[in-house]
Amino acid sequence: MNLISQLTSSFQQEFKTKPVLICSPGRVNLIGEHTDYNEGFVLPAAIDKAIYLAVSPRTDNELHFIAHDLNETYQGSLTNLKPTHTWADYLLGVISEFQLAGHKLGGLNCVFGGTIPMGSGLSSSAALENGIGFALNELFNIGLERVAMVKLSQRAENEFVGAKVGIMDMFASMMGKADHVIKLDCRSLDYTYAPLRMDGISIVLCDSRVKHSLVTSEYNTRRAECEAGVRFLKTYYPEIKSLRDVTMPMLDKHLRDTEPLIYRRCAYVVQENQRLLDGVAALEADDIAAFGQLMYGSHEGLSHWYEVSCPELDILVEIARQQPGVLGARMMGGGFGGCTINLVREEALDDFTNLITKQYKARTGKDTYLHVCKIQDGTNLIS
Ligand code: GLA
Repeated sequence: MNLISQLTSSFQQEFKTKPVLICSPGRVNLIGEHTDYNEGFVLPAAIDKAIYLAVSPRTDNELHFIAHDLNETYQGSLTNLKPTHTWADYLLGVISEFQLAGHKLGGLNCVFGGTIPMGSGLSSSAALENGIGFALNELFNIGLERVAMVKLSQRAENEFVGAKVGIMDMFASMMGKADHVIKLDCRSLDYTYAPLRMDGISIVLCDSRVKHSLVTSEYNTRRAECEAGVRFLKTYYPEIKSLRDVTMPMLDKHLRDTEPLIYRRCAYVVQENQRLLDGVAALEADDIAAFGQLMYGSHEGLSHWYEVSCPELDILVEIARQQPGVLGARMMGGGFGGCTINLVREEALDDFTNLITKQYKARTGKDTYLHVCKIQDGTNLIS
């Protein structure tokens, strides 16, 4: 029995009614990392790994959730929602934000499960948040546009869950379009879809199977370091609002010698935005080789200047870089673990898989998990 049938049958067994079914995907990001909360650009896409939710309204005010994969349940009520510090917060947070925004909700049954490995940096939490938001919008006829739901998902994560993440993950999961990447301006939220013309090239994710506890604290530290850079520069250029307004000459002149650490963080972000713009131009020109080189540049910056990589991610990129059929590779997402994203020629896929699996094991003692991903539509109603 496939996952959707399993979720439906366990839903019907528990709640004796037919659910609405929603698919909410994870995401990749081709380039543009740690730029979203600096009002920069990102280039993500939704993928063929997703959270599936079976949902129905209740006649009372109760919330009944089942996390199918974990075999865990949550029961509560719509009123007075408080964080539980468990997976339930991704659902409760969105419900709470919908209510705070003035939308009238009723009780809810939900069974969910999925194919996004947790903690591998593919945004299972954003997918879950978008999935429940989409369900609320549908079941209670709220009539929100997709971008409005994205914003509520981000608020749920920022305010209720307490993770000060940017908007990229929710945006990609909700707004994804099959075979396209999204060029998103995180300042204006203007976006365009660029067709992913990568004939004969696969997007391969290599999971380091590492999840460092550093990720949240270091993420917040990086945000603070970027904000400190903006504050310093504001004394010279009062019009600056974020690193989006900053150039390398400004950093070189005012921060390089006096604040070397802040300088490195800010320089990475300024250069990563430029790499993204160059990358989009390379994709438009069908120059995947040039795009791949920019990915290596992004990894170097993340590893040495922004310092959010870890030995395992560096090793995965190093091994990939030595394979002739690999056009580009870099760590992806927040860092300190999770996946690398690799562009691999299809004829080299088998060799790549064998080599990286063996060499990664030999050098780290760990198994890597590879996934060739397809670019799919964002959060959607199955039935
Ligand atoms: C995490 C966050 C995103 C983004 C990336 C880094 O995935 O959730 O908002 O900041 O890290 O690019």
